[in-house]
Amino acid sequence: MNLSNNRYLILGIETSCDETAAAVVANGVTILSNVIASQIDLHAAYGGVVPEIASREHVKSILPVIDRALSDAKVDLNDLTAIAVTYGPGLVGALLVGVSAAKGLVAATGLPLIPVNHLEGHIAASYLVDRSLEPPFLCLIVSGGHASLVEVLKHTQYRTLARTRDDAPGEAFDKIARSIGLGYPGGPLIERASEGGRSDAFHLPVTHFPDSYDFSFSGVKTAAINVYRKFEREADREGRRWPSSCSEADFAATFQASIVEALVTHTQTALIDTGYKTLVLGGGVSANRKLRESMEEMATSAGVRLIVPPPVYCTDNAAMIAAAGYYAWRDGRRAALDLNAVPMAELDDIIGQPTVKRGTER
Ligand code: KG4
Ligand code: ZN
Repeated sequence: MNLSNNRYLILGIETSCDETAAAVVANGVTILSNVIASQIDLHAAYGGVVPEIASREHVKSILPVIDRALSDAKVDLNDLTAIAVTYGPGLVGALLVGVSAAKGLVAATGLPLIPVNHLEGHIAASYLVDRSLEPPFLCLIVSGGHASLVEVLKHTQYRTLARTRDDAPGEAFDKIARSIGLGYPGGPLIERASEGGRSDAFHLPVTHFPDSYDFSFSGVKTAAINVYRKFEREADREGRRWPSSCSEADFAATFQASIVEALVTHTQTALIDTGYKTLVLGGGVSANRKLRESMEEMATSAGVRLIVPPPVYCTDNAAMIAAAGYYAWRDGRRAALDLNAVPMAELDDIIGQPTVKRGTER
C-alpha cells in the first residue's frame, strides 16, 4: 500500500475492563477502523463486571478483533507507525491481555510500543470529534471507575485537580440500577427509566468538600438505597411495585439529578477558579443526556465552549487509545518489552514519558 510520508497510522488496543477493542487512527484524528467486542451480555447476568470472565473473554477476542481492525482499515502491520496499548488503570488480568498482545506484535514487527493511560484515552476521544481542539483545556472524565477533573496542559501532559474519594459515578449508577432491579449496565438503564420522571421526588445529599473539587458518591448511593427500601415497604402496603408517592421514573430521575448536580457544580467552580474557556467531557457517564444538557447550560452561561464526544466515543473504545497514542508517539513516549499492566496507573505520571524540559511547564 502506498502511503504518503505524513500519514502516521497508530494501532490502538484497549482491554482495561469489559470491552475488547482495537482501532486504526491516522494522524491522531482520522478513524480508519474502530472494532469493539463488548462483553456486556455476559456480565449482565452477574449484575456487574466479573474480572475472571473479562480476562477469559479478552483472550478469546483479542486476536480476531485486532485482525478485524487492520482489515477494516485496509492496512497491514507493515503500514503501521506504532502500536499503542492501554497499560492502566483497570483490571489487571484484563489489561494484561492487551499489553501482551501489543508486546507480541511489537516483538514481531519492531514497531514502537506506546503505553497509554486509559484516562488520557477518554480525553483524546474529543480530538477525534473536534479537529480544532487544542490544549490547554479542562476535562471532566466520568466513568465506571473514575470521576476526575484534569487540566490538559499539553497533548501528553496532565494535572489532576480532583478525583472521587470513594465511588465513581458510573459505579453508583450501576449499583442503584441493580438495587431497583433494572439490570446492568446501570447508567443507560437509569437514564431510560428517568424519562418523564420528577427530578425532585425526594431529598438526596450532594457531598462537597471545603477547599477541594473532589467528588464523593458513596453517601448519595447509600441514601438512595435507604429511600428505596422505604418506598418498597410503602409499595408493599399499597400492593404495587412502586408506591403512589414515587414512581420508578421519579426515583431514577431524582437519583440521576443528584449525580449530575455534583458533577456540574464542582466543574463550574473549577472553571471559575482556573479560568479555562474550553471544557471537555469524556468517559461512559458523559453519554448521559441529562449530564450533557446540564453541562451545556452551565457552560453557555459561563461563556465556556463545551466539547462532548458522541456516546460511542464516550464509552470504552480503542480509537481514543490510538488518538492518545499518536500524540504520545509524536512526543517521544516509548515503552520497552518489559511493559507491565498497572491497575492503579496515574495520569500525572505516565510510563515512558520523556521528562519535560525546565521552563516548558505551564
Ligand atoms: O468509560 P466506560 O465505558 O468504562 C470505564 O472506564 O469505566 O464507562 C462505563 C460506565 C458504566 O458504569 C455505565 O453505567 C456508565 O459508564 N454509563 C452511563 C451511561 N452510559 C454508560 N452512565 C450514565 N448514563 C449513561 N447514558
Ligand atoms: Zn473507560
